[in-house]
Amino acid sequence: MSGWLVIAGLGPGDDALITPEVSAVLAEATDVVGYIPYVDQVAHHPNLTRHSSDNRVELDRARHALFMATAGHRVVVVSSGDPGVFAMAAAVFEAIETGDSSWRDLNIRVLPGVTAMLAASAACGAPLGHDFCAINLSDNLKPWRVIEKRLRLAVGADFAMAFYNPSSKSRPDGFGRALQTLKDACNDARPMIFARNVSRPDQMINVVPLTDATPEMADMRTVVLLGSSQTRLIQRSGAPLVYTPRSVSAWAIHPRISSGVPASVRVGTQGRAIMTTGRPNTRAASILARAPVPPEFLDTIKSMLWSRNSARSASGVNGPREMITSWLGNGGGVRGGSTRRIT
Ligand SMILES: C[S@@+](CC[C@H](N)C(=O)[O-])C[C@H]1O[C@@H](n2cnc3c(N)ncnc32)[C@H](O)[C@@H]1O
Repeated sequence: MSGWLVIAGLGPGDDALITPEVSAVLAEATDVVGYIPYVDQVAHHPNLTRHSSDNRVELDRARHALFMATAGHRVVVVSSGDPGVFAMAAAVFEAIETGDSSWRDLNIRVLPGVTAMLAASAACGAPLGHDFCAINLSDNLKPWRVIEKRLRLAVGADFAMAFYNPSSKSRPDGFGRALQTLKDACNDARPMIFARNVSRPDQMINVVPLTDATPEMADMRTVVLLGSSQTRLIQRSGAPLVYTPRSVSAWAIHPRISSGVPASVRVGTQGRAIMTTGRPNTRAASILARAPVPPEFLDTIKSMLWSRNSARSASGVNGPREMITSWLGNGGGVRGGSTRRIT
């Protein structure tokens, strides 16, 4: 069998961002297969046959490519960005898994590309400079409740986030719903970046506080990034630089990020929660108890609570109450009471 199949990423749009490896394989191909605008982006050469199709026929497109490769063609399936990110590589493998057993013996390779979130991140600084996740906001292939759950858990884990497919003509309301979920869960003004047509001549980058973000800021040619609670802006003349620092201390898990975190997360990874009891401390305590607490955070605060409590009242200088108070930004309004651990 002399045919082969390559699934290649064309990057976000600018030809300069197509990797040399992808250009080389396209120069050898007999057939290129993909969504119309991506096939159009491939440079012409006389022995190349183009097979363009519309959106939402990914599995048919994958099977067509597999049939041609089996028949001895040198086939490249193209995706924008990276072919493994919400794109054709998974579709081809779904077709192989459920299709003709001879497809498993084909010579198949996946060639990476620059995905939209990385091009967008580079265009405004380094908002994905620490832990992050990527979420496809389309509910074409998954139920909306799964999207909502993932949004809340991602906020709870304090990831920066990248959102693909935020909006389309057939899904006009989805991004508004996602935005409301994020606003409720984050409850702060962290930066949100709307990056449209990244790397193309009409690229637009719009950085706004989450609180000011509106549904019409995104369309299907936009990738949206949302900072973590740690993401910062560096103001300067022109557009600000956005970045997320590389380090997170145990104390940097801000209790305010925890609103909306489901009960399964609230008790922490070891099934424990810290709670503070006593007169005016209820709000701080309940917020802290809802925080998605990683084990090292729990251990630190637990040892502080025990040592403070056994020595004197928890209103001692620099005790946990003061720390909670400063996180909450109510400047010393929390006084008195006592603390205890619940298991
Ligand atoms: C089906 S996904 C394909 C993602 C692609 N495989 C990638 O790695 O970038 C399409 C979505 O990617 C994002 N996208 C792709 N190219 C983009 C670009 N140049 N500028 C902004 N967003 C882009 C948009 O969110 C769009 O709705």
